[in-house]
This record gives sequence, C-alpha cells and structure tokens, in this order.
Amino acid sequence: MKTIIEPFRIKSVEPLRMTTITEREQYLKEANYNLFSLKSDDVLIDLLTDSGTSAMSTKQWAGIQMGDESYAGSPSFYRFESALKKLAPFKHIIPTHQGRAAEKILFSIVGGKGKVIPNNTHFDTTRANVEATTAEALDLVKKEGLDPKLEHPFKGDIDLVRLRELLSTRSEDIPLVMLTITNNSGGGQPVSMQNIRETKALCKEFGKPLILDACRFAENAYFIKLREEGYAQKSPKEIVQEMFSYADGMTMSAKKDALVNMGGWLALNDDELAMHARNMLILTEGFPTYGGLSGRDLDAMAIGLEEVVEEDYLNYRITSTAYLGNALDRLGIPVMKPIGGHAVYIDARAMLPHIDPLQYPGQSLAIEMYRLGGIRTCEIGTVMFGRQADGSEKAAQMDLVRMAIPRRVYTQSHIDYCIECLQEVNANKHRLKGVTISWEPPMLRHFTAHFQI
Ligand code: F0G
Repeated sequence: MKTIIEPFRIKSVEPLRMTTITEREQYLKEANYNLFSLKSDDVLIDLLTDSGTSAMSTKQWAGIQMGDESYAGSPSFYRFESALKKLAPFKHIIPTHQGRAAEKILFSIVGGKGKVIPNNTHFDTTRANVEATTAEALDLVKKEGLDPKLEHPFKGDIDLVRLRELLSTRSEDIPLVMLTITNNSGGGQPVSMQNIRETKALCKEFGKPLILDACRFAENAYFIKLREEGYAQKSPKEIVQEMFSYADGMTMSAKKDALVNMGGWLALNDDELAMHARNMLILTEGFPTYGGLSGRDLDAMAIGLEEVVEEDYLNYRITSTAYLGNALDRLGIPVMKPIGGHAVYIDARAMLPHIDPLQYPGQSLAIEMYRLGGIRTCEIGTVMFGRQADGSEKAAQMDLVRMAIPRRVYTQSHIDYCIECLQEVNANKHRLKGVTISWEPPMLRHFTAHFQI
C-alpha cells in the first residue's frame, strides 16, 4: 500500500470549538494581535507548538496510574532512568520540569561573563539562558542552513571550519559545545551523524564536552536513516544510541520526543558538573529523583521514550509533516526545504516581499492565518530575534512562520483544511500589510509584545 496511515486509532476525543471570522477579528484585537495571548478555546487548529501538545497513548495513561509519588527514591524515577539509559547511557540523569530548566541549571554553572557557547542554532530559551549569565550565544550553522530554498539533506549541521576557528582562538572562553538536534530555529532541519561525529572529534581535540540539545532526537535519527549513507538498514533506536554515544551530556524537553505534556532532563557524564547541577536542582526544581515532576510524569516519559523510536510512528510522523509542506510547495507558497520533522516553515519574507522585514512579515502572515482559518502558528523571525542587546532593531536572518505539528493529534483532514486556508491567504497575499510593535518587554518579547495592524 502506498498510503501511510496514522499508526493509531482514536479512543478519546476532544471537541474543537468552531468560530467565525468576525469573532476571530475580535479575539485578535483583544490579544493585541499577539497569538500567544489568544485563549486556546478560540483556536481551531493549534499549530503554535509541538511542545507539550502530544497525545499520550493508552499505555502512557496506564503508566500514569503506576506513578509513585515518594519524595525520594521513587520507582517511577528508576523506570524513567532505565528507559533513558537504553537510548542515552549518560552517567547522571537529572530530571527537570522542562527543557529550559535544564538549560538554566547548566548555564548557571558554566556560563558567565566572557564565556561563549557555540551551537548550530540556539533555540530562543537556550539563547536567553546563556545570555542571562552575560555569556555569548553563538550560532554557527553551516551556510546551507540559512538558505530556505536550498534542498540539502542535513541543513542543521554546524560549520566545522568556523567552530575550529573559534576553538583555536577562544578556547579558554568556551565551556562546552552544543548541537541542537533537530535544529528548531533553523527550520527543524536534521544534523547528520557525520557532523555529530566530527563535532565530537573537534571537541575532543580541544578538551571540550559536547552537549546535545536533543528535544527532537528521534526525528533527527529517522532523517539519518532516510538520508545518510550506511543507516538505511539500522533501526531508529540503534541510530539514536550512536548519536548519543558521541555526546558528553544532553538537555532535553520531554515535551517533544518523549511524547509527554510536561517534563525534561539534564544528563551529564562529568561527576563534578553533575554534583553542581544537582545542588542547583534542589534549589530550584526539587529532589534529584523527581526534579520538579510528579512520579506519574516520570512513568509517562519512560513509556514515551519507548514509543518515540518505533519505526511506524516515525515513518508516519515524518511523512505527515512532509505531506503538509509538499502541498504548500505545490501551491507556490515558499516553504523552507527540505520539509523539517516537527513543523513546516513558511518563508514569509519571500511570500510577502512587499512587507519590509522590520514590519514583521511573519507576524502579518500568522495573524491572517488565524483570522481567516482559526489556525494558530508562530513567527520565528524579526519579532523573535530582531531586537539587539543595545535595544536597536535588525532584520533577523530569516522571517519564518512555523506550523508546528503536535504529535499524534491531528488527522489528515485537519491538515487538508490548513492547506485550503493557506491557498486562500496566498491568493490575497498582496492585501496583507506590515505590523508595528506598540509595546514590548525588555527580553523574550515575542511572548507578550503588543502589535498594531
Ligand atoms: N531546545 C529546543 C530546541 C526547543 O525547541 C525548546 C522548546 C527548548 C529547548 C526548551 O524546552 O519548552 O521544555 O522549556 N521549544 C518549544 C517550541 C517551546 O515551541 O519549539 P522547554
């Protein structure tokens, strides 16, 4: 059979509330045109994020019942630790309530004035956590990763020439090297095994640990299976194990590829670093065998980690995301290519060339998709990254709108509806205008800024 079906059936349904364009225009006004400020009841198809929005399986819900809520030494923690070590056998596994808590702990220890953290592309919370310590977050994705139109199998790869240069000139300022797999802010593009291996070799040469920001590790592994020579016959699990074998630690948001609604962890091999991390954990998250989570969350993560590397799941996941992206491509809507694992990224700058980047074409497009179809998406562009440390404004490298696909949540007809909506937006795109920011906070402005249209 050619058709790849959802490898699950629906047992429990969550009704969607239908709204009209007139109602949505009012909701937009009330939200100051910031889609983060909408009530989710007023959203029809929510593609704001793939984070924490997964549908859990019957097995995970059963696991929730097994949760042991002991303060210390809960069996739920040991089930989680054992499931994770089957994929990523790091010495110290430190649960946190979500990914950014792991980042906060890690960078509070290794960051600080004069330090620099290289990464392919820092996600916004990662960058903010690095910068909050006054360290510098440096993006070194290879140049192919910055061209939205270019077809290339591994646009998430880090530029090893620039990384070597940095390590050679500023070695003492670099506490660790990071790789984000898949590269979320760069379009959900994967990092090749060869790049991970070579980054590790470089880190070894300069005596630096390699830490993976591994939120979407399973999707990255499946792309390696599909696209990298020598991996077609390997199971996703084997590929995941090899990926982690090159790393000295990881930060993780379990809200992505652990298929749960809340959770994360920091994993490390270094005893000294882990000791400091656990001390910080106790201050801010909780005791090291629960770290800001309930025992039941740990059980759900343990089971999610088994399910996320199943081949049928990953095949459906990657194929269904590409289904949306390829359909938009056929309509002539510029999308970041090739289609990423967890999201389709529309190149709003190319789609709306009449809107100056400093008038936020991505935000304008995202507003219109909600107005017309009730679809909520996320701008990843000049609103998110345009504000400079000195308060000035600069166009981001790209102006993208991300349609993130929650895992196991929407069916093909939901996606067909989105395609139809975008077709209509595209037909009238010349009518869209830029937006201005009327209020913004000093950092992470995209979450709360007010816009005017
Ligand atoms: N790293 C990456 C690559 C991410 O995509 C995220 C979250 C985090 C770290 C932080 O994890 O949310 O659990 O604290 N990304 C979400 C998104 C929010 O919508 O892409 P968190």
